[in-house]
Amino acid sequence: MSKQKKSENEGQVEARVDALLKKMSLEEKVGQLNQVGGAAFSPGPAAEDQIRKGGAGSVLWLNDTKKFNELQKIAIEESPSGIPLLFALDVIHGYHTIFPVPLAMAASWDPKVPEKSQSVAAKEARAAGLHWTFGPMLDICRDARWGRIVEGAGEDPYLASAMAAAQVRGFQGDDVSDSERVLACAKHFAGYGYSDGGRDYDPVYLSESQLRNTVLPPFKAAVDVGVETFMSAYMDLNDVPATGNRFLLRKVLRDEWGFDGFVVSDAFAVANMVIQGHAKDRREAALRGLKSGMNMDMSSYTYTDNAAQLVEEGSLTEAEIDELVRPILTVKAKMGLFEKPYVDETLLDKVIALPEHRATSRWSAQRSMVLLRNEGGLLPLSKDVKKVAVLGPVADSMQATEGSWMVFGHTPAAVTVLQGIRAKLPNAEVTYASGPEIRRDIPSWFENLMAGQERKPEQTPAESEAAFQSALETAKAADQIIMVLGETDIMAGEAASRASLDLPGRQEELLKAVVALGKPVFLVLLNGRPLSINWAAENIPAILEAWEPGTEGGNAVADILFGDANPGGKLPVTFPRKGSHAPLYYARNTTHSPEDSPMYNPRYWDGLPVPLYPFGFGLSYTTFEFSNLKISSEKIKLGESLTVAVEVTNTGKLAGDEVAQLYIHQKHGTDTRPMRELKGFERITPATWRKEDCDLQTRQR
Ligand code: NOJ
Repeated sequence: MSKQKKSENEGQVEARVDALLKKMSLEEKVGQLNQVGGAAFSPGPAAEDQIRKGGAGSVLWLNDTKKFNELQKIAIEESPSGIPLLFALDVIHGYHTIFPVPLAMAASWDPKVPEKSQSVAAKEARAAGLHWTFGPMLDICRDARWGRIVEGAGEDPYLASAMAAAQVRGFQGDDVSDSERVLACAKHFAGYGYSDGGRDYDPVYLSESQLRNTVLPPFKAAVDVGVETFMSAYMDLNDVPATGNRFLLRKVLRDEWGFDGFVVSDAFAVANMVIQGHAKDRREAALRGLKSGMNMDMSSYTYTDNAAQLVEEGSLTEAEIDELVRPILTVKAKMGLFEKPYVDETLLDKVIALPEHRATSRWSAQRSMVLLRNEGGLLPLSKDVKKVAVLGPVADSMQATEGSWMVFGHTPAAVTVLQGIRAKLPNAEVTYASGPEIRRDIPSWFENLMAGQERKPEQTPAESEAAFQSALETAKAADQIIMVLGETDIMAGEAASRASLDLPGRQEELLKAVVALGKPVFLVLLNGRPLSINWAAENIPAILEAWEPGTEGGNAVADILFGDANPGGKLPVTFPRKGSHAPLYYARNTTHSPEDSPMYNPRYWDGLPVPLYPFGFGLSYTTFEFSNLKISSEKIKLGESLTVAVEVTNTGKLAGDEVAQLYIHQKHGTDTRPMRELKGFERITPATWRKEDCDLQTRQR
């Protein structure tokens, strides 16, 4: 859009919003600040009734195209000012076509991966009638015990900022009136990834320097590329709930960064300030939320029940309410919802059938995988194999392949690793056994939201043993064994933290028993967090970290195992050797007694907290040499920049791509800084592949 056209549009949008605010009643304005839940568990009166009286600005937790049009019709034709609704859902890594989880996409170290993937997610979600996704999740996390590490981009602010910007561009594009895009939401503002002990929702204590140097940069990157909405975090930050935190929501977000979109609370979080002890009752919670600049109340009805009265009694002015409503109306107008509020109900089927969506998913998954070990170049495997056994509880699990957030009517449909290998080896006999089940010791209520996840009775010891023996028998009859181990989708994500990072259940025991057979064994990991696979790291010569790779995950794993794609991803998080070593991350300050000095060491006497795999690590089927490093100037002044160039040569036999990573170190200063800080990176891809990347072809031989 030209500059002139843009400012004309902005003028029209502003005029429309002014006119609306003039005619809306106070109740209707408060209605715009209310987000109504469309799921069975949502509190409050029927959505239709709330919408009809102008009591809703947005609806969430509904995934039903026809129903969207029905509700929109009520809003447009029956509510007092006919303001369209925003339909919102958690489309975190795909709507119908599922992409690798965000942690995996960050492992690509290629911002094109999240950008293209989220643009497909946006196109599908919009075709379904959604306008707004609750992503990207931008919480830096250095503690692998925290379940939600799967939703973010890992431990590093620089890498995460690049991924944040890419995801926002993917969801929103450059123009929110684009009918193939959705609004993005930068969440959870801020600090949620630092909860005490990695326990979900627990309080967070962060110094301002940690906050500004580590936690806030991805959010700032999202603002810089024009993210339209923010979501606040659940927990207390330095003893003030993020939901009512004026420092975050006013000082940093609005005053310092100039954010002019709107903020939604996390679910029920405004009312929950009463439980947290920050407000004496719902009325005070509403006041704190509104005063701190929290525009929209996600389904706690605290604003609906109290805001008008707060204005009437003089605790709040109507102008303050207008200030909160304005950005919500503005975004609706900018999107063109007043002109085009309905979705074409025939569109979704056509959009989800587009073959390039699956191709993008396969490409994304290939680029996200990280080769952790490949002793003696055992991988890639030959396709001339007669009998392969594929073993493990996640080897044929669509849910584990798709990963977290497959909620609200999503039907699992991923190609599993077993299916991918079978498709790759049409002439081989590919056998399968799951081995003993794995399960959470303690369920979470989220399990009920996932399709096909009804909790089955636990395997008895005899059933578990029978499954173990059957896996061993299957292994005995094969020439080579591919073990697919890790976690199920509900073992990472919200309310899915754990104290241990070991492979759950009897997986390691099975791995050891299979290795003892003396046959070639390869390991594929499906998981949403770092796992302390210490025994495997020493005893299994070839290990591929496949994460939760999405719809085409099984095909992408097979592409890599059998050499049709060369892995080039790098870890976006440190893999600790034990859960109790967390938080563990690379960008630590140098202490008075550095880890290599003999004085006052070791850090623990019962096992060194050196990572099992460090941040930035990942192998390839080929080798690279870095040479000829050049720096444009020896010294620079504050505010100036310099260029660092290096030659990267593929010294192996296969085509491959490599990530050049630039780290800096401040030698001294009044504030000490980490020993290494990532400040630049580029995934260098051979020209012959780049064309294919653009065409979104998979590299098939
Ligand atoms: C709770 C989660 O913390 C948040 O990430 C999500 O977007 C909302 N619920 C809405 O489902």
